[in-house]
Amino acid sequence: MIFACLLLTLLALGSSSAQTEQVIRLDGGNCTYAFGVNERGELQTLYWGGRLGAHDGVPPAHSLPEVASFDSSHTTTPQEYSGWGAGLFTEPALKVSFVDGNRDLVLRFVRAAPSGPQSVEVLLKDISREIYVTLRYSMDPESGILARSASVENREKQPVLIEQAAAAQWTLPSGSYALAYLTGRWAGEWTLNQELIQGGARVIESRRGTTGHQANPWFAISRRGGDTAAPVVADEEHGEVWFGALAWSGSWRITVERTQLDAVRVTGGFNPFDFGYKLKPGEHLETPVFYGGYSDHGLGGASRLLHRFEIVRILPQAPDPKPRPVIYNSWEATEFKVDDAGQIALAEKAASIGVDRFVMDDGWFGQRRDDHAGLGDWYVNPQKFPHGLKPLIDKVHALGMDFGLWVEPEMVNPDSDLYRKHPEWVLNFPGRPRSESRNQLVLNLARADVRDYVEGFLDKLLTENDIAFLKWDYNRNWSEPGWDQVPVDEQRRVYVEFIRNLYSIFGDLRKKHPKVEIESCSGGGGRVDLGILHYIDEVWPSDNTDPFDRLSMQDGFSYAYTPQIMMAWVTDSPHWLNNRSTSLSYRLLSSMQGSLGIGANLNHWTAEDFATAKRLIAAYHSVQRTIVRGDLYRLISPRDGSGMSAAETVSSDKNQAVVFAFANATQEGRGFPPLQLVGLDQDAEYKLSSIEGKFRPGTPASASGAWWMRHGLQLDLRGDYQAAAFQLDRQR
Ligand code: DGJ
Repeated sequence: MIFACLLLTLLALGSSSAQTEQVIRLDGGNCTYAFGVNERGELQTLYWGGRLGAHDGVPPAHSLPEVASFDSSHTTTPQEYSGWGAGLFTEPALKVSFVDGNRDLVLRFVRAAPSGPQSVEVLLKDISREIYVTLRYSMDPESGILARSASVENREKQPVLIEQAAAAQWTLPSGSYALAYLTGRWAGEWTLNQELIQGGARVIESRRGTTGHQANPWFAISRRGGDTAAPVVADEEHGEVWFGALAWSGSWRITVERTQLDAVRVTGGFNPFDFGYKLKPGEHLETPVFYGGYSDHGLGGASRLLHRFEIVRILPQAPDPKPRPVIYNSWEATEFKVDDAGQIALAEKAASIGVDRFVMDDGWFGQRRDDHAGLGDWYVNPQKFPHGLKPLIDKVHALGMDFGLWVEPEMVNPDSDLYRKHPEWVLNFPGRPRSESRNQLVLNLARADVRDYVEGFLDKLLTENDIAFLKWDYNRNWSEPGWDQVPVDEQRRVYVEFIRNLYSIFGDLRKKHPKVEIESCSGGGGRVDLGILHYIDEVWPSDNTDPFDRLSMQDGFSYAYTPQIMMAWVTDSPHWLNNRSTSLSYRLLSSMQGSLGIGANLNHWTAEDFATAKRLIAAYHSVQRTIVRGDLYRLISPRDGSGMSAAETVSSDKNQAVVFAFANATQEGRGFPPLQLVGLDQDAEYKLSSIEGKFRPGTPASASGAWWMRHGLQLDLRGDYQAAAFQLDRQR
């Protein structure tokens, strides 16, 4: 209520001197965010951090002084959304150029209005030009995660060119900080990097037209206190952490600056590289949403807040998305060699071990013999499936599973009927080469006709076939991103319109086919972000299914994204990528930490393999909700060099905990370290049961939460690529 009162006071104000007394404050979870209007009329950041007392005041905004003639007050004062102009040397949020040559933009407060119980819209305007910016703020009351975005409107009589547009800028309290961010490559996504934030700027970005494997639009900044020798690696469970995630599946950029005056700021939104959005009179440009949050429970606390926020606020089935069905996927077993008999044989075997959903991957359509042909021709291949998909789908249903299908809608092979008919449909610069990757080109989804074609064939496919799930793939990034059907000065709008059309196709399909679920895949984890998560139910984190590599990849993934969406398949051993041999139970336990799938060639399994998989899939089904929806605690990091790792999830009612532990390379006879659990009710009694693996003799069958958390337990786990899992259940 404090928020609403303060805001209404601000609205009632007429004079600019009175405006400067006011503070707009948003409270949610354990977080307070506050800003105000300074004496120049700039919107100035005042506070972002732990929640303040309900009756505490935040001192009103006043610009900071200049520091020598080189850093004027415009550059020292932290603005909520800075235009490039008036002596600003730090990263701007918005940079525009006008047709008369003016490139100076100075944004001043006009008014603020509540747009919901925890939301506010603030209107800014340039000091003389008719450029308006609406800043949107919406605080999630439960997590304290703040959603911010901007809408830039041109009310001039001439067009303006937007050269750079951020979704939001965040300013941290002054201090010494470490930055965590995620980088990767194909088959090597989700590397967690941690470094000291030093003078200058760390830019994480994608220039690829899509989210990309190379970096993910997420950051976490932890405070290092006054001790300059303190470690750069943030504490899992203690200390202050500010974090953010950008909801955009196109080219993006997040810049983390430590300015010349040691202020730490984060600016994120559209990537300005090759950007240029011509805004005609009356038009506006909406930026993506940039979410930001705060935790005083370390990186672990930050990721738990994000997980819950994604489940409750972001995913299409929010606030209570169904746990993912256990899937079987045919890709690693058959690659492009799919047909009725082969898929039915796999489906029968998959059903026998308790799989819920059978997914046929690439190869079922057009003239798709391999990756040289067929993309774009979305008819069922008559040689492979002479009677269409119905016999296979009926068989899958009769086996008690639902049916999913692979598609790659935004791509075309030059060897396809679609490309022969519409060569003009791909991204390209006329007269220049069209660089192929995996023998394919990118359809220009920014075009209305291409957009309609893609939505049309998907709608038809889903209408004519009983399909419960689409695996939506995207196997290359953009090159030569020309769009020559629109005037030259509008062609760069492709960076925005392509993604907006992608989102609108997802939105339409979900409305028309509400039971269909979708997975985002891009050669593995190349398209995972909070933008696409509004429309899809799960993601494929990596094409690398090696169960040992997956431990650290899944760990990195979990800093930004919930295990609910993290698909993890059990595939064959030795693994095709690393030639590493692992037992089936190790592979199963590695994959059971997310949403489980099987992708092995079941035709090669022994009776013992089927029995192991059946037993562990049944165990997974019984504890799945805790694993994917509980609070995740990282007990031993797979990155700490010990050759061991362990993670625990605790159901939100604290009735159940599930722990996975891995001994990947035991050295010098050292046993697995004692596991002191976290997050239990210390006064409750919990019964211990093994899912896989043994405990050291003397481990009690039941004990208090205090015992499991303080004394801890010891697993009998040694060797190379050994795994164990157990559960604790509260006794009534
Ligand atoms: C890349 C995906 O990541 C794989 O899982 C598989 O679907 C192939 N594409 C199919 O071409």
